Amino acid sequence: MPDQETILELLRAFEQYSVLVFRNQAITDQQQLAFTQQLGPLEATKVGTPGADSSIAIFSNFGPDGKILGENHRQLINGRANQLWHADSSYKSIPAKASMLSARILPSKHGNTEFLTMRAAYAALPAKMKRKIASRVAIHDYAYGRSKVDSNLVMEIEREALPPVRQSLVLDHGAYGKSLYLGSHCASIEGMSKTEGRALIGGLMTLAEQPDFIYSHCWREHDMVLWNNRSVMHRATPYEHTKEKRLMVRTTIAGHSPTTPPLRNS
Ligand code: OGA
Ligand code: MN
Repeated sequence: MPDQETILELLRAFEQYSVLVFRNQAITDQQQLAFTQQLGPLEATKVGTPGADSSIAIFSNFGPDGKILGENHRQLINGRANQLWHADSSYKSIPAKASMLSARILPSKHGNTEFLTMRAAYAALPAKMKRKIASRVAIHDYAYGRSKVDSNLVMEIEREALPPVRQSLVLDHGAYGKSLYLGSHCASIEGMSKTEGRALIGGLMTLAEQPDFIYSHCWREHDMVLWNNRSVMHRATPYEHTKEKRLMVRTTIAGHSPTTPPLRNS
């Protein structure tokens, strides 16, 4: 286990660079949990995801018997939903700070995970747009995000556990500047009509999604990647999921506070 000095150095690097890659980490779930906890408190896995009720989330295309799942299995459809740009648990009232993903089984090719720097995206916005979105609040909704992939995907227990939440559209990272907070669950903008809000969200996504702002991580076995959900978005990319296996294990560091200032009751 890393000592306290190393942990502090890692946390500093995390704040500055947003995405950290650790090669050659052949670890168990317990070791991954222990290392994650050194960096911050764990977030519990949401209902409806393999690993729920623990702090381990499992992303794979095969079942407990080791057989690759059929195209219409919820696990695979959820995998396709992960191919949309997102920030993990942006649909929770206190969204995740960071995620740590460990590559346990990889396909022989493809299946990169891509990261988009939302600080660079914010910095590149025209001044007029920065003024327009300052202090704006977006509504993030799990059911909306998943409905983009399959309208029947979200289960009733998920809908009940995950009502829409408010998130600031712009997050402030102090010395490291500001970032846009968007992603597939971002459903509307408070104070704007649905049409106007979605046009703004779409326009911001188009401005953000520049090749220069994207890092595509080509996984090697036993890689572990840590990312800041409040300064980058990420997405899975396709691979031959009907032919080859892929198993990724994620631990998540909880956020310490909401992204929005408290509502005043007056
Ligand atoms: C995640 C995720 C993408 C991938 O673990 O949160 O979105 O490539 N993973 O598996
Ligand atoms: Mn994710």
